[in-house]
Amino acid sequence: MCPNSPTSTTPAAAAPDLPQLLARYQAEPHALLQILREWQGLQGWLSPEALNQIASALGLTLAQVQGVAGFYRFLHTQPVGIYRVLFSDNVTDRMLGSAALLADLCQRLGVTPGQVSFDGLVSVDQTSCTGLCDQGPAVLINHHQVVTRLDAARVAQMAELIRARVPVPQWPAAWFEVQDNIRRADVLLAAPCAAGAALAPTLARGADATLVEIKRSNLRGRGGAGFATGLKWELCRKALGAEHVVVCNADEGEPGTFKDRVLLTRQADAVFEGMTIAAHVLGARRGFLYLRGEYRYLLEHLQAVLQRRRAAGLLGANILGSAGFDFDIAIHVGAGAYVCGEESALIESLEGKRGTPRIRPPFPAERGYLGYPTLVNNVETFCAVAHIAQHGGAGWAGIGTAKSTGTKIHSVSGDCARPGLYEYPLGTRVSRILADCGARDTQAVQVGGASGVCLAPDEFECRIAFEDVPTAGAFMVFDRSRDMFEVARGFARFFAHESCGFCTPCRVGTALLVKRMDKLAGGHGSRDDLDVLFELDHLLHSTTHCGLGASACNALRDTVLKFRPAYEQRLRSLDFEPGFDLDAELSIARRMTGRDDAGAHL
Ligand SMILES: Cc1cc2nc3c(=O)[nH]c(=O)nc-3n(C[C@H](O)[C@H](O)[C@H](O)COP(=O)(O)O)c2cc1C
Ligand code: SF4
Repeated sequence: MCPNSPTSTTPAAAAPDLPQLLARYQAEPHALLQILREWQGLQGWLSPEALNQIASALGLTLAQVQGVAGFYRFLHTQPVGIYRVLFSDNVTDRMLGSAALLADLCQRLGVTPGQVSFDGLVSVDQTSCTGLCDQGPAVLINHHQVVTRLDAARVAQMAELIRARVPVPQWPAAWFEVQDNIRRADVLLAAPCAAGAALAPTLARGADATLVEIKRSNLRGRGGAGFATGLKWELCRKALGAEHVVVCNADEGEPGTFKDRVLLTRQADAVFEGMTIAAHVLGARRGFLYLRGEYRYLLEHLQAVLQRRRAAGLLGANILGSAGFDFDIAIHVGAGAYVCGEESALIESLEGKRGTPRIRPPFPAERGYLGYPTLVNNVETFCAVAHIAQHGGAGWAGIGTAKSTGTKIHSVSGDCARPGLYEYPLGTRVSRILADCGARDTQAVQVGGASGVCLAPDEFECRIAFEDVPTAGAFMVFDRSRDMFEVARGFARFFAHESCGFCTPCRVGTALLVKRMDKLAGGHGSRDDLDVLFELDHLLHSTTHCGLGASACNALRDTVLKFRPAYEQRLRSLDFEPGFDLDAELSIARRMTGRDDAGAHL
């Protein structure tokens, strides 16, 4: 935050200057992203002088620093408004009226979306899902604070507060309340692991026996891919390297997913405990929690939990008196890039670079952060690890199905009476979750986020499990009033926006998808366009470099197959139809030549 801006909470004298900030990070090139983020927090934006100074202090070229600053959506290399309002743009925010609220705020402040007001006071724009779908519409203020449950009254008051330059900390406190909305708790949410409760039995059992216990549980990763956790730990443990590194993936960028937000809020001890147990098994000394930029507001809370754990001997040197067991955790804050949830892109980002996914193999478990064997697990996976280390693997294996053991936490949002978190044993039917959350007249459920699967009513008896419908946790409900074409179009825009641009099929393919969908929306579609959507699906699925491109077409494919009338009602003809109206395009020429006779029309 700018020390002299009305949004500042920091007296100008307390703010460090750039050399002090660089010294705090020991001019370490791998800290580049953190340095850029923090300096921008103080100055509002990253000026060319600052980029130059940072480059020379870190021994990097200016191009390298500019390349990183230009990659992340929350970093600005041009002046921005003193107040920066970013509307969350998930489909669930739109269903709650976010588009009209954005237009209202822009009109009240006299700004165009995406541009800074002429006096430099404010900018209003959109950003991808902020992970607050159970209490939207949501906005991010200055990338630092979140306002939930936005409505017309709040928008009107917000415009007044901004015009009067009232500092954000003086805005109504109720606006910043983020509710946990736990609606159904099972073993993880009902009885979170207390600080040290799983570490003590781990140390008593020893590293080998703890790994056996994790394997006995049959736990599979909760970040999406469902890789066997015990096997991943074993591979990483066996990999050769001067040291091993443990990383918690708290990027949670999948639209409709917000369970990690609640786990970090309520069960940070369990997350850190799971990471510390992994460190004990692997012999790791360093850990990172990669926190998505949208959850920056959780940073102070998480730092306080880490500090408490250090004071209690649960982190640092000789943990719980165990000679030689030294491990500590640093928090790295992201800056608005969904692709950084992909584990190799996340590691690039941890190293201070652009979040471009790496070529694999080698996998991070063999060669990850700075080339060291690196274990990456999801927030919920580490909570499950803490539970298993405390209660034993057999208990976890006894919950759920044979192939999908334990419980899964679902982030439920959309058309239902009770959005929030629901924890069930794996193997629970979709219909049960719909009944519990108070969904009515449901037309579709998008399970697993934008990259997941869209289920129609005849599939609601499916089970959420790796062998049936796998999920990373999002459960978005759409009733019969919703237009499934528009839902899919929103997801197409999301992927085009978030593509990192590294490989052509994804960079171009996602843009072409949006063009086709826009053409259909504009009433110029034909059956040919639907065929092209399937061709693009095949292209993206088979040729892209990482999972983002491979899954970018999932929602489109599912909705065309299962909700075809939503597409067909937009087709003008069954034959080829051009993407624009040539006759309409000639209207300017007609006006200029003063002609409007039949010969001037096509
Ligand atoms: C585009 C993309 C985004 C991803 N985002 C996340 C994420 O936000 N959180 C997460 O845990 N895993 C995410 N993943 C999966 C990770 O690459 C990785 O598989 C996971 O963190 C491993 O943890 P787990 O074994 O505990 O599931 C993403 C994958 C892709 C391709
Ligand atoms: S598939 Fe997309 S997000 Fe993944 S590397 Fe290629 S361009 Fe980047």
